[in-house]
Amino acid sequence: MAISSPPNLASLASLELAGNAGRIREVVRLGHPVLRERAQEVPPERFGTRKLRELAMDLVRTMHAASGVGLAAPQIAVGWRVFAYYVPADYGEDVPPRVLVNPVLTPLDQRQEEDWEGCLSIPGLRGLVPRYLRVGVKAQNLEGEVVEFEASGFHARVIQHEYDHLDGVVFLDRMRSLASLSFESEWERFAQKSET
Ligand code: NI
Repeated sequence: MAISSPPNLASLASLELAGNAGRIREVVRLGHPVLRERAQEVPPERFGTRKLRELAMDLVRTMHAASGVGLAAPQIAVGWRVFAYYVPADYGEDVPPRVLVNPVLTPLDQRQEEDWEGCLSIPGLRGLVPRYLRVGVKAQNLEGEVVEFEASGFHARVIQHEYDHLDGVVFLDRMRSLASLSFESEWERFAQKSET
């Protein structure tokens, strides 16, 4: 990940939260209407509030508890444009847990690559999903400060997956074909393992 300018470093650091704070929330599954609705922008007056901070902490705590690498607010039935994610060190890049508010993504390269994804709201299934290799990310932190950075590879994939949840889109909608859709147990037996 590349940081666009030095002043953003401090802002980004404040997005990173301890994983043991917050509450474990119920992750809603496909069929809950909130997963198919467009989430709302967090309004200016909500930045810096305890409510937004608690949402962020709950997302990080719940993500870890569910062994996920990303979790969007609609997945805990909160219709705000907020998501948490991280990139484990063994995925080539070590990005600590981070929460983005009102994110905007811009593909920086028109090339896409297919790789396997799953979703905590669609438990037990995996499928091949095309994603842009590189995206520019502009978002706000919990205090409302603007943060900008670039993400590539798995980092970019996670961000695109979580961003889709804010628009009511799930990975199934992005699959070019449902032919690769697999139950995890069968996937472990038969599918070509992801390289990332
Ligand atoms: Ni998901």
